[in-house]
Amino acid sequence: MSKFKTSVFIISLLPVSWLIYALFTHQLGANPIEAITRDLGDWAMRFLWLTLLITPLRWLTGWNQLMTIRRMLGLYVFFYAVLHVTMYLWLDQFFEWDEILKDIIKRPFITIGFFTFTALIPLVITSNNRMVKKLGGRRWKKLHRLTYAIAIATSVHFYMMVKQDKTEPLFYIALLVLLLGVRIYKYYQKQRLKLAPAS
Ligand code: HEM
Repeated sequence: MSKFKTSVFIISLLPVSWLIYALFTHQLGANPIEAITRDLGDWAMRFLWLTLLITPLRWLTGWNQLMTIRRMLGLYVFFYAVLHVTMYLWLDQFFEWDEILKDIIKRPFITIGFFTFTALIPLVITSNNRMVKKLGGRRWKKLHRLTYAIAIATSVHFYMMVKQDKTEPLFYIALLVLLLGVRIYKYYQKQRLKLAPAS
């Protein structure tokens, strides 16, 4: 693994390391379970946004090495999402599956979170080189466009969860609009170039 990739790998573990440290040093306030669940959800979302930032950043800077960390960042989305969901299933719901099912049906933000998490699974399964080869580049790319829907659903999950001050979810939604907006712009720019008569 290159030095750059190793550094990103280690830095990406800092949020969970900090949470463990904060838990044992009682720095998580009166409701540590809620604080941990929320923080892990935040980090899953942040890594998702970072994954979406890689391609536009490469367009902007021409720094190709960035592409080598995209898959790792994507896997970190899943890593933090698994921890976030585990906290909910274990310390929020005590693995009471009847209650969990009721909660998924009753609370729309949980329903959306559940589908978002489920949608991450095929992306993780197909994230290795063997699966890229098996599916073929075009089909793989098409499947991985699911990332955009997952990001939109994550925003909705966050926005619906917050009951009062919506500033934070709106901030992340604004970032996402930017990240998806540059892709739409690039797509139409490409189409225009294709249609323009060769001069
Ligand atoms: C089965 C799937 C999921 C369930 C059951 C779930 C459940 C929850 C719950 C209960 C909260 C509120 C925490 C609390 O107030 O104690 C929450 C917040 C959140 N979740 Fe999820 N979630 C799921 C999937 C996801 C996924 C896949 C992501 C991101 C990729 C995500 C991102 C977030 C974010 C950003 C928050 C808000 C954190 C904050 O308040 O700053 N969740 N989720």
